[in-house]
Amino acid sequence: MTLSQRPDRNLALELVRVTESAALAASKWVGRGDKKAADGAAVDAMRNLLDTVNMDGIVVIGEGEKDEAPMLFNGEKVGNGSKPLTDVAVDPIDGTTLTSLGRGNALSVLAVAERGSMFNPGPCVYMEKIAVATVAANAIDLNATPTKNLKEIAKATKKSLNDLVVVVLERPRHDDLIAEIRTCGCRIHLISDGDIFGAIAAASPHVGVDVLMGIGGTPEGVTAAAALKSLGGQILGRLWPRDDVERKAAISAGYDLSQVLTVDDLVSGDDVFFAATGVTDGELLRGVRYDSYGARSQSLVMRSRSGTIRVIDTQHRADRIGQYSSAEFR
Ligand code: FBP
Repeated sequence: MTLSQRPDRNLALELVRVTESAALAASKWVGRGDKKAADGAAVDAMRNLLDTVNMDGIVVIGEGEKDEAPMLFNGEKVGNGSKPLTDVAVDPIDGTTLTSLGRGNALSVLAVAERGSMFNPGPCVYMEKIAVATVAANAIDLNATPTKNLKEIAKATKKSLNDLVVVVLERPRHDDLIAEIRTCGCRIHLISDGDIFGAIAAASPHVGVDVLMGIGGTPEGVTAAAALKSLGGQILGRLWPRDDVERKAAISAGYDLSQVLTVDDLVSGDDVFFAATGVTDGELLRGVRYDSYGARSQSLVMRSRSGTIRVIDTQHRADRIGQYSSAEFR
C-alpha cells in the first residue's frame, strides 16, 4: 500500500463523529423498552454519517442476520468513495436490550482497517471467545479447559485465583462454564449483553476485569479484536455453529471449525481504527446525557499504528444536534 492509500490518522476523528451520532440517536430510546426502535435510530444515524467519511469502505461486519438489517449489511459500500480502501465493522448498538432497558455498558461501535484485513465470519453467528490483557496474552489456550486457562492467567498476572474476575454473558449455554469458574474460586462479572465491552474490559488494565470467557457473537469478536489491536492483549476465537445446518454451511464455504483464530487472524491489518461512544453509563464510558447546553457524550478512539487511546468528551449544542444525528432534541 502506498502512503496516499493508507488510512490517514485523521480518520479516527471522523469515525468518532459517526459513533457519537449513533449514540445520540440511540440515547433517545434508552429505557423505552423498544430495542428495534433504538437500533433503527442508531443504524440510520450511523449510515447517514458514514458516507461523509473519507474512505472507500466495504461493510465486512454489519448488522447481521440476527437483526434482519435493511442497512449496513455485509457487503454494503460505505464512505465517500475516496481512498483509502477499507474494511468496516459496524455495531450501531452493542447492547440493544441494555439500551431498551436502561442498563449500563451499551456502546455504539465502529472499526475500520485496510481492505481485506477483517475476518469474514460467513454463516457462523457465534464463536467461543477468550480475551485477556497483554500480561496474560501467552497464557490462554482455547483447546485447554477453563480451569487450566484460569490457572495460567493467575500465574501470568501474579494474582490468586480468588482475585481473578471473569466476564461471562449470562446465558443457559454458560451454566457449566460458570460452575467451573466458581469451583476454581474466581469471581464472575455476569453481563446480560455486550461482550465487546467485556473483551475491552478484559484487555484494559483499569477496569478490574481479567478475562472474558464464553460464547458470543462472531461479529462482536471481530470488532473487539479491532480494539485489541491498539490496546494490546489477546482474543482467541473459534467458530461455534448453532446447529447442523450452520455447521454444513460453514464447512462447505471452506471454514475450518477447529481453527483457533487469534487477534491477528480476526483483524490482520496493522492500521486499524476503533471508535466507541457510550450510549448508557458503564464501566468504560459514560453514556449520553442531556443538560442545558445540549448533550454530552464520551467516546474511546484508538489507532493501532500509534497505539494511541483517546477518551473524548464532547458537548453537542442542542440546536445543532439534528445536523448530524437523527435524534430529535426536545
Ligand atoms: P445486540 O446488541 O445486537 O442485541 O447484541 C448484544 C450481544 O450481547 C453481543 O454483545 C453478544 O456477542 C451477543 O449479543 C450474544 O448473543 P445472544 O444474545 O444471542 O446470546
